[in-house]
Amino acid sequence: MSKPLVGIVMGSSNDWDVMQHSARALKDFGVPYDARALSAHRTPDLLIEWIDGLSAQGVRCFIAGAGGAAHLAGVVAAKTTLPVLAVPIPSRHLQGLDSLLSMVQMPKGIPVATFAIGDAGAANAGLFAISMLALGDATLAKKLVDFRKKQADAVKAAKLPEL
Ligand code: RP5
Repeated sequence: MSKPLVGIVMGSSNDWDVMQHSARALKDFGVPYDARALSAHRTPDLLIEWIDGLSAQGVRCFIAGAGGAAHLAGVVAAKTTLPVLAVPIPSRHLQGLDSLLSMVQMPKGIPVATFAIGDAGAANAGLFAISMLALGDATLAKKLVDFRKKQADAVKAAKLPEL
């Protein structure tokens, strides 16, 4: 197994339904990743150990998904200067608006790049990580161009129902 280039972390294994979309994008493009459920408040020491371990292995960025008072991405960003992409998980009572605001309102100095709430955000975080990696990888860049073309072709081929 190749060394992971992306670390995916989520605050709970219950977040996997959403975060699997980041993993799926990376897998489809052949980008090795390591995915873990680790919490900023329930397992802070383990989280930091994981960040340090992956950084030592040469990981290039992190994707962090969390719900509620979602400080996970901010904590990851506090421990690394690598890019951190944040995915707000839909929460039970506020449908992820709490997660989104917790992530997007990071105070000045420790940035995280925040994506859309839920599946689309998770998939886009994966695709964005691929775009960053493609800056130094022509094969990956070509795969991205092909992916975009396939999407465009699907829109062009779409037929609306007759009335
Ligand atoms: C956060 O709390 C997790 O990211 C999850 O979205 C939320 C609820 O966690 P569980 O109670 O489902 O484990 O830490």
